[in-house]
Amino acid sequence: MKQKTRFITAGRDPATNPDPLGRHGVVNPPVYHASTIVYPSLAEFRALPERRQRDEQQTFYGRVYHPTTLALERAVADIEGGYRSFAFPSGLAAIAAALQAFLSTGDHVLIADSTYFPTRKFADGVLGRLGVAVTYYDPTIGAGIAELMRPETRVVFAESPGSLTFELQDIPAIAAAAHAGGAVLMADNTWATALYFRPFEHGVDVSIQAGTKYIVGHSDAMVGLVITTREAWPPLSEFGHLAGQCLGPDDAYLALRGLRTLGARLPRHYANGLAVAEWLMARPEVDRVLHPALKHHPGHDLWRRDFSGASGLFSVVLKACPEAALAAFIDGLEYFALGGSWGGYESLVLPADPAKIRTATTWQAAGQLVRFHIGLEDPRDLIDDLAAGFDRLRALAR
Ligand SMILES: Cc1ncc(COP(=O)(O)O)c(C=O)c1O
Repeated sequence: MKQKTRFITAGRDPATNPDPLGRHGVVNPPVYHASTIVYPSLAEFRALPERRQRDEQQTFYGRVYHPTTLALERAVADIEGGYRSFAFPSGLAAIAAALQAFLSTGDHVLIADSTYFPTRKFADGVLGRLGVAVTYYDPTIGAGIAELMRPETRVVFAESPGSLTFELQDIPAIAAAAHAGGAVLMADNTWATALYFRPFEHGVDVSIQAGTKYIVGHSDAMVGLVITTREAWPPLSEFGHLAGQCLGPDDAYLALRGLRTLGARLPRHYANGLAVAEWLMARPEVDRVLHPALKHHPGHDLWRRDFSGASGLFSVVLKACPEAALAAFIDGLEYFALGGSWGGYESLVLPADPAKIRTATTWQAAGQLVRFHIGLEDPRDLIDDLAAGFDRLRALAR
């Protein structure tokens, strides 16, 4: 089955629908607002532990295998190519749970320097407080990561391409080094989604999706998902349940609905993003465009080898200009709102400074880094909007 078809079929099995009430032929699973799950008899109640042993995913309680959330988890596990998945109330909650599930006091974790900043803050804050040693690595390190492995390294955490600067990582080489040292490889796969990067085929053990972005796809819900191999599932699911983590049914429904159209939306983000990125490359106000699908991008060869597409998120480095010129550029944009979260249908712009975040590498740039999320608009409108923005910028840059 082709991956785009899988987005439609994953987790859908109306013929063997475990819902005892049936669905009256309705295509999508219902949104169950549920805490208590009741049983028809004492015998059924007594049989529950044995049923849960046979099928761990037996619905049990609003927080433990809730039927609407389970429908999302099953679909995402199938699409991502993993064994099972666990849904969390945000992408960051999913990241925090994955890290805590595998790390204890005295352990060591390696985290890519270009990782989403709140992941780093969680590692430095919470993991540091728990006595876990944290080392950041150059995302372009590849097989060289073996030299940073310690006997107590339990987790390597990758995000490829990296946040803001889009460095590609040699995931198979990093996986080989992590596994040789007895560690699991986690990867934040939010940028590519399972449409464009199949993590488990490249040696990843634990894949993370901030479902808030492309899975939900409409900027209207917070969702996180952790997908694992069979071996990595027990610690992750145990931690998730013990920590009381669960996703509300309305958000699970929105994520499942978004998932069905991701295979159609993402190629449009890819095409629009590339069209805008290529146009930006030729602009005199732009120093560099950081987009993995552009030939000059460092790591482009890794992207070509491991990825089958790109999403709509990339950055540019502008030539140095006064703050007032940057403000005139950004504030006057018609189709680009100034905002952080991405993956929705709309275009966004965000200035950011990697130099303040990085510790294992040095960020040097001629001017301001500006991250763009390219939405589903007609790219010709976006380009016209940006061209007018550069006119405003130039007028104040002199
Ligand atoms: C790469 C990446 N991972 C994780 C997250 C966190 O997701 P959430 O905002 O749902 O907590 C984000 C959010 O921007 C992100 O960009």
